[in-house]
Amino acid sequence: MVLPRQPGVAGLTDDDERIALVAIRGNSPGPAGWQKLISEDQLREKIAEIGAAISRDYACLNPLVVSVLKGSVVLMADLMRAITVPARFDFIAISSYGPGQRPSGVVRIMKDLETNVEGQHVLVIEDIIDTGLTLNYVLKMLRQRHPASLAVGTLLNRPARRLVDIDLKYVGFDLPDKFVVGYGLDYRQKYRNLPFIAELKPEITALN
Ligand code: IMP
Ligand code: MG
Repeated sequence: MVLPRQPGVAGLTDDDERIALVAIRGNSPGPAGWQKLISEDQLREKIAEIGAAISRDYACLNPLVVSVLKGSVVLMADLMRAITVPARFDFIAISSYGPGQRPSGVVRIMKDLETNVEGQHVLVIEDIIDTGLTLNYVLKMLRQRHPASLAVGTLLNRPARRLVDIDLKYVGFDLPDKFVVGYGLDYRQKYRNLPFIAELKPEITALN
């Protein structure tokens, strides 16, 4: 008996998707539309580097490291263990408003920080900075709370699409104009649990 194909994300069946994930998790090249871009080893090495730089720069400052849910949660879990100096960690959750999936720069706070920012050395950690609109909003809000300093680190930077200028203290990798998933980053809430960064090509994202 032939079972009806269940549409999964982006018009892929669950089976298509499972096969693609098995392939790119292994060392074989991904099926059409998928490509591993940044491996687990490359991520580990880069995060150790950034953690060492933060530990050096903030050695005596007891920084408050803030990350934006949900995309940055995997990065934060690894990065916090690579920071070897006293530090505190807090999370903010936001949702972007605006037509379609494009960020509009209009952001609503869904979960605020639990820590008072005033007089603190605040370091915001992002998974990816694309247009910069979302982060720009978060930075404006934090600045109004009078931190002693405010800086930004991002694992991935896609400068080609930047709409607002943002000063970045730590950057992991510069990305070309490709849509990526994994290591916390999602496509329609999926693929956050891939342990590496993969490109999802337009032939997949355009299926739906
Ligand atoms: P921005 O406001 O345009 O800089 O958008 C930043 C947010 O959009 C990131 O924190 C991600 O949540 C999401 N985003 C941007 N590019 C990608 C991508 O390639 N894959 C998954 N999410 C992305
Ligand atoms: Mg994000």
